[in-house]
Amino acid sequence: MAKIYRDNDVDMKVLNGRKIGVIGYGNQGRAQALNIRDSGFSPMIGNGDDRYRDLAVRDGFEVHAISRVAAESDVILLLIPDEVQPEVYDEQIRPHLNPGDILCFASGYNVYYKTIRPPAGVGVIMVAPRMIGESVRNLYRDGLGFPCLVASENDDDGRFMPIALAIAGAVGATRFGAFESSFREETTIDLFAEQMLWPGIIKLCLLYFEKLIENGCDPQIVTTELYLSGEFVEIARAMITHGFFGQLKLHSQTSQFGQLSSADKMAPPELLTRVDEVVDEICSGKFHRKWAKEQKDGKPNMKKLWQEALNHPLAEAEAELENLRKIVARSYGGSD
Ligand code: NAI
Repeated sequence: MAKIYRDNDVDMKVLNGRKIGVIGYGNQGRAQALNIRDSGFSPMIGNGDDRYRDLAVRDGFEVHAISRVAAESDVILLLIPDEVQPEVYDEQIRPHLNPGDILCFASGYNVYYKTIRPPAGVGVIMVAPRMIGESVRNLYRDGLGFPCLVASENDDDGRFMPIALAIAGAVGATRFGAFESSFREETTIDLFAEQMLWPGIIKLCLLYFEKLIENGCDPQIVTTELYLSGEFVEIARAMITHGFFGQLKLHSQTSQFGQLSSADKMAPPELLTRVDEVVDEICSGKFHRKWAKEQKDGKPNMKKLWQEALNHPLAEAEAELENLRKIVARSYGGSD
């Protein structure tokens, strides 16, 4: 059973006297910096010269070059994209680290795949929100929290974990619960969802669309049925309120029978083999090497895949429903 830490388990005093630096002011950087400030601390922001810097200044933060923040901070939250972290770390952070400094990651990726290797004596902790940045901020402001995974690497005497928990407290995660985890577990869970669960859902949605069109159904009605009605979101919500299986009782008897009797048939042996391959590619580092090469080559495959996705007939049906989508988006609190 994972150990779960909540507000009462956290000693926020361990942050007293430590300067907190937040590097990056994007999705997570802005949300976490604002929450930390509202929790009573004064983080400084490290950012390059771009629109994120302007936003941080407008939000009233002290903003400096990344290298200066790395030099002046005791606890450094590295909140820039995983893909650029190794280079920024090597050039602007590593030269300023001293024993006792603490580097805090919001993802396990670069530590697990050893593309960032902090020197001995530097604390390496993880506070990884299971929540998009915008909601990290909104939930905190509403007095609520969100789950996160916490870990501390090479921490034999256990002196860095209390800092990880205090950061989780300051960003608002321990209001919900911080789960003790590891860099390896966070990376595997994340990549497995991205390479097995979500692509499986995307492919099934596209197949659903294609087969119904082949069978003479109207593309706009099928698109609405697929996700625009919001039923998808409501079912996910019902999983929380009634349980993963419990929500099935909200559907008709015919639907319950159809779903329960068909689920196993949707996982033929070839799919199970592919699922094992995905795990192997993640754990062996094969995927990491493929992605690193793709980035080095200028992302040619990513560009091609995006083009193919946007050429799918579902994108066309969605474009024709643009006005309806904007109305639904507003009712879900999204901006259009
Ligand atoms: P982001 O894409 O929003 O980051 C933007 C920030 O990175 C800006 O401040 C920008 O100035 C800076 N930046 C971009 N390229 C740079 C470069 N080459 N050199 C220096 N600064 C650069 O990043 P996001 O999504 O907030 O991710 C930050 C961390 O949080 C990552 O480790 C990610 O895995 C993790 N995370 C992100 C979640 C999300 O909701 N996006 C959820 C949970 C974790």
